[in-house]
Amino acid sequence: MCGIVGYIGHREAYPVVLKGLKRLEYRGYDSAGVAIYDGKNIKLSKTKGKVVDLETRVKEEISDVGTLAIGHTRWATHGEPNDVNSHPHYSNSGELVIIHNGIIENYAPLKQELINRGYEFKSDTDTEVLVNLIEDVKKNENVKLGKAVQVALNQVVGAYAIAVFDKNKPDEIVVARLGSPLVIGVGEDEFFIASDASPFIEYTNNAIYLEDEEMAIVRRGKKVKVRKIKDDSLVDPYVQELQLNLEQIEKGGYDHFMLKEIYEQPRAILDTFRGRMLANEGIIRMAGIDDNIEKFLNANRILIVACGTSWHAGLVAEYVFENLTRIPVEVEYASEFRYRNPVITEKDVVIAISQSGETADTMAAIKLAKSKGAFVFGVCNVVGSSISRETHAGAYTHAGPEIGVASTKAFTTQITVLTLIALKLAQKKGTISTSEFHQYLSEMDAIPAKVEKTLTSDNHVKTIANIYKDATNFLYLGRGYNFPVALEGALKLKEISYIHAEGYPAAEMKHGPIALIDEQMPVVVIATRKGHYDKVVSNIQEIKSRKGKIIAVVMQGDKTIKNIADYVIEIPETLELLTPLLTTIPLQLLSYYIAVMRDCNVDQPRNLAKSVTVE
Ligand code: F6R
Repeated sequence: MCGIVGYIGHREAYPVVLKGLKRLEYRGYDSAGVAIYDGKNIKLSKTKGKVVDLETRVKEEISDVGTLAIGHTRWATHGEPNDVNSHPHYSNSGELVIIHNGIIENYAPLKQELINRGYEFKSDTDTEVLVNLIEDVKKNENVKLGKAVQVALNQVVGAYAIAVFDKNKPDEIVVARLGSPLVIGVGEDEFFIASDASPFIEYTNNAIYLEDEEMAIVRRGKKVKVRKIKDDSLVDPYVQELQLNLEQIEKGGYDHFMLKEIYEQPRAILDTFRGRMLANEGIIRMAGIDDNIEKFLNANRILIVACGTSWHAGLVAEYVFENLTRIPVEVEYASEFRYRNPVITEKDVVIAISQSGETADTMAAIKLAKSKGAFVFGVCNVVGSSISRETHAGAYTHAGPEIGVASTKAFTTQITVLTLIALKLAQKKGTISTSEFHQYLSEMDAIPAKVEKTLTSDNHVKTIANIYKDATNFLYLGRGYNFPVALEGALKLKEISYIHAEGYPAAEMKHGPIALIDEQMPVVVIATRKGHYDKVVSNIQEIKSRKGKIIAVVMQGDKTIKNIADYVIEIPETLELLTPLLTTIPLQLLSYYIAVMRDCNVDQPRNLAKSVTVE
């Protein structure tokens, strides 16, 4: 978590860094800060709160002139989010200044050693320990900043992406990464440093993604030098051309990124299967699968590891894979999997799902699975992300940048990729007939238009949101493929509106949650016609007879439920296996509108961050 930005070149650095911080705010927004070198001195300003608060602070406190600056937007790990704990942090001499994303796990003994040597600390952060460790090495070993950073990092246990500069050498910024992302934008006589490429996309398309355990010296007017932190060997940096454009990372007229991203789903799903699925010809082509098909077909089982919304996509995939391919599937929270000493063999295939490609627990689960000899396949959205590089093979979801903290289009595109994989395997294994295969493909082909159609329920969902916006609890029920959608609907509501919500398999209701039902309880029921329909109708009756309020998501033309539910939201007819791609949409809209009506910060809900790079 945390976003870091830096600039060194011929422009005024502060506006570049400030705009970059606004784009990276999805990574954390507890506090923000900036350090600018004005030609003589470092000017530093930081504050608790958001980047807009920093903007005000900078105006009040410092001159913002200078062609070198670094900035930070924080998601607190060590020390509460207050002004002092905000980044950047000075070293004791005031000569070095650092920004850091990650955690230094052994900061306590390092801090004690530095205290013993006379260092003083203003903040509670691990970052202030690191910058003083670098200073200590620099002074004691009489080395340049780059070397000092390298020696210091070799003493550090944990994860980091850092940028540090020395006011006595204001022509360079030293950066390094281990476990947290860091990319260098390479322009004409100028360089940009950032946690992802969004801060510099209007200036350059050329970028160097640092690998783990690499550091770089970014020097004005010189080529970027990249080294291995451990053994000092030089690395030839690979300058990659980015596919991102500015439009993708702006709100484009929508009030919030979340709403924009909900509305992007028809396009995102289409982009995800475009070129991979040729419905008319009955072909699914996915390089990562085609090249490793035997591993999947011979697997004893498929293990899916993920967190949060990505875990929900994994649960949908469990139903889809088992039904289509008859390969046993288990879905695990990456955070549990990594610590519970799971049984993994070389005959297992592990699928890791992650929008950001940076989630620490998912990454650790991958490493564990690899160490036991399993083949690990990644489903990521962010191109070049750590998880996409750590896995043996993978398939990207082509959702485009997801900036709203609540995941929307990542979920539906993950389900799309996973469904394509399952269909491909089922075709190869012969577990579905050719005509079924063709039917799935042509239905999948129609999904973007059906998502578009589902989005026309927007105003109706808004009306429902207005009626239930003051509820204190919500229950979400679904069965089969739509049980994970119920979980996802509940997660969406609680994370952005702060209303308590729980998702359940509909039939489980009578084993406990039914006790919660009274006239105050809105229950969202996903009741598609082929998904154990009659049983779900009975569940709705049970809720109604206890005075609960029913908001039902039904297939177009459903009459039975219309007669008993308080409100119905229709989705177009499709194959049951593909319904999650449609039923999810109204649940996203419902949580969005409720959150807006409750005046919540939809894109940046409290206490959350977009990529969770800490345990
Ligand atoms: C919820 C949400 C989170 C993420 C989770 C995993 O809306 O966004 O639950 O799904 O933190 O993140 P990724 O997919 O980046 O690994």
